Amino acid sequence: MNPKRLYLHTIGCQMNVYDSEQIAMQLAAIGYEQTATLDDADLIIVNTCTVRAKAEQKAFSFMGRLAKMKRHKKRLIIGVGGCVAQQEGQRILDRMPAIDLVFGTQAIDRIPHLIQQIETRHCRIVDVDMVETPDIPDSLVGRRKSSQVSKFVTIMRGCDNFCAYCVVPFVRGRETSRQPESIVREIKALVDNGVKEVTLLGQNVNSYGKNQNLCSFAELLAMINEIEGLLRIRFTTSHPKDLGTDLITGFRDITKLCSHIHLPVQSGSNRILKRMNRNYTREQYLDKVAELRDTCPQIAITSDIIVGFPGENETDFDQTLQLVEAVEFDGLFAFQYSDRPPAPAVKLPDKTSASIISDRLQEILAVQDQLTRSKNQQLVGSTQWVLTDGFSKKEAAGNSAGSHPSLQWTGRTSTNKIVNFYVEASIANNPNLTGKMVGVHIDKGYSHSLSGRAVNLEPSLRGLKGVENYAA
Ligand code: 5AD
Ligand code: SF4
Repeated sequence: MNPKRLYLHTIGCQMNVYDSEQIAMQLAAIGYEQTATLDDADLIIVNTCTVRAKAEQKAFSFMGRLAKMKRHKKRLIIGVGGCVAQQEGQRILDRMPAIDLVFGTQAIDRIPHLIQQIETRHCRIVDVDMVETPDIPDSLVGRRKSSQVSKFVTIMRGCDNFCAYCVVPFVRGRETSRQPESIVREIKALVDNGVKEVTLLGQNVNSYGKNQNLCSFAELLAMINEIEGLLRIRFTTSHPKDLGTDLITGFRDITKLCSHIHLPVQSGSNRILKRMNRNYTREQYLDKVAELRDTCPQIAITSDIIVGFPGENETDFDQTLQLVEAVEFDGLFAFQYSDRPPAPAVKLPDKTSASIISDRLQEILAVQDQLTRSKNQQLVGSTQWVLTDGFSKKEAAGNSAGSHPSLQWTGRTSTNKIVNFYVEASIANNPNLTGKMVGVHIDKGYSHSLSGRAVNLEPSLRGLKGVENYAA
């Protein structure tokens, strides 16, 4: 019998990417093989995001496309999961007759059963029950196969912070951490399959384990650091209010922990930070940045900013711009504020007009663009350790011919900067560098990447952090 085919469409954050892999593994157990071709699918799952209005619009527009497809393919099963599904539940079935299943953020382990019911009874189902089971079943932990160098590993789910603009605590539920043993077992299995780098995921990793009396996040990192064969550890996201000295010193002492932190500031105005319920001030944020740089001078710091939060005036926005210039972030994600019911900011007065929000976004992005470019250019002439992901996009697309005698590879520095590089024949002939740490001399810095040439294919342990005797 031909296997049934599953097409998975993932929108949103890294946590959704991780969840989609779990969905694929659950469905493999009942005979579904993944396909990259939409038209071949017997089952289509859309994993949705609702954190900003744009992501939700994307989800509904894709669902509309699927509804049209189903007119010609009556037996196609369509499931919608993730944050939009959690929030909208039955309303999705009411609004879209083509959808067969709506499952919430805590229903992933029930999917095989739900799909089997639909296959046999041709019914339509909504399952948005919030049942906290953060640990993935042991049977799945060791089954993650991958040809990728770097993988995401969710270590905790949900959020208890209730930032005024944010819908996450409502759609992902209360903060729950996975057991450290289960996390370590999963990472060991990934490493056995060739993975070299993991990114640990949680809405606020600094509070890992706290409400369940598990080990601290820094202790978890130390345990993961011991896994043989693993080269690098990253994590996201950190909440500034909970970033403690133990984690800051971890950037110096935990050998495999990369020199990069994503530390969302959201605004540079104390008045707005208070309205956002962020629980730190601009000064406290700047102190943490200083402590990070004192402890780990080469650390790269990136951030998130929301422009046009209700009540944000010119002075508040100027303070945000000043903070961006003062910190000199290595990269910045800036978002236009959007109302996300039931997040409490929906009810705040003094909404900022769409045109002001759009102008402020352009302004802040232009400031950051200059900063990123100049930070990248400062690296020209240095040598950086790069963990190679594979061929560069240019190479993969087959249009590098004539530009250079050797192949172009791509990877990231410890500070998370993308580097495209060549290997001169004098260094090695046709080496397979995927998953290898390579010393790259940086020749050029652009807005989004660096380029250079390999000079060292034999890293030492100290090279893992990208420092060794090289300028960082
Ligand atoms: N409007 C705009 N941006 C938002 N974010 C979260 N909620 C909203 C919203 N309602 C941004 C924050 C967060 C990132 C993941 O998305 O900056 O850090
Ligand atoms: Fe949302 Fe704040 Fe929780 Fe992040 S910390 S998920 S912004 S509520």
